[in-house]
Amino acid sequence: MFDVKQQFTRRELLGKPTYWQASDFGAAQLRHQYPADLLDTIRSKALEIKDENSENRPLNLRYIRGAHKLIPEILDLFYLPGRLEALSELAETKLEIYPISVITTAVTFMGPQDGTVDWHGDGVPFTELIALEVDDVSGGALEIYRGDFDEGSAVVHGGGDLPVDTLTHLTHEVGSSIFGQIMRVLHRTEPMASGSRITLTLNHSSAEKPFIDDNPMFYLAADNPTFDWVDEYVDDVRTRQLPAYMATRS
Ligand SMILES: [Fe+2]
Repeated sequence: MFDVKQQFTRRELLGKPTYWQASDFGAAQLRHQYPADLLDTIRSKALEIKDENSENRPLNLRYIRGAHKLIPEILDLFYLPGRLEALSELAETKLEIYPISVITTAVTFMGPQDGTVDWHGDGVPFTELIALEVDDVSGGALEIYRGDFDEGSAVVHGGGDLPVDTLTHLTHEVGSSIFGQIMRVLHRTEPMASGSRITLTLNHSSAEKPFIDDNPMFYLAADNPTFDWVDEYVDDVRTRQLPAYMATRS
């Protein structure tokens, strides 16, 4: 289902081994074989509902959250036969759909007007970013800081620049996706001087280690201030995260 164009372990991205990870898989750029007509349907529907259903959120990113509720074809792609199995093999852990439905899937719009996401670490454990449209883009690559998350964050939030030789760039291309376990890995979208990009984001957690997650409630609430996700959040802790965590302690 995929050709791996390039791949990094988390140890390579962070420069050291870490505990807070479901596996040592870091990030990969993949050439996929997803049906072009399905991707195009998702892209057209997202554009149709963009103005009414997307907002610019705190990290300077315009996106449709809970996108699969508005565009059900996204779930056809999520559960495309063989997809989860192939990604699980790459991730070195069995992947499941991310349980908090407002952020299970998203469609993001990036460009000089819509914004480009600023430096952050992901809240979700595993994400696949599928380029739906890339139009005359200057900049816009996924820019990953190879080093300690806190140290890098202190630099960028202090107004400084990260050394150029510590940055890795993965380019978004139609026909490709970027798959990553980039919780506590500092990254952003390189600013875009021109052009536009539409990207479908599909989020996953580890079935074996569902408690490896970096979405504290305040972080979720910053993007989703309605708190309509609290019941799903608590249910996930009760029924998946806590039993799996306790099993690691016995
Ligand atoms: Fe991210």
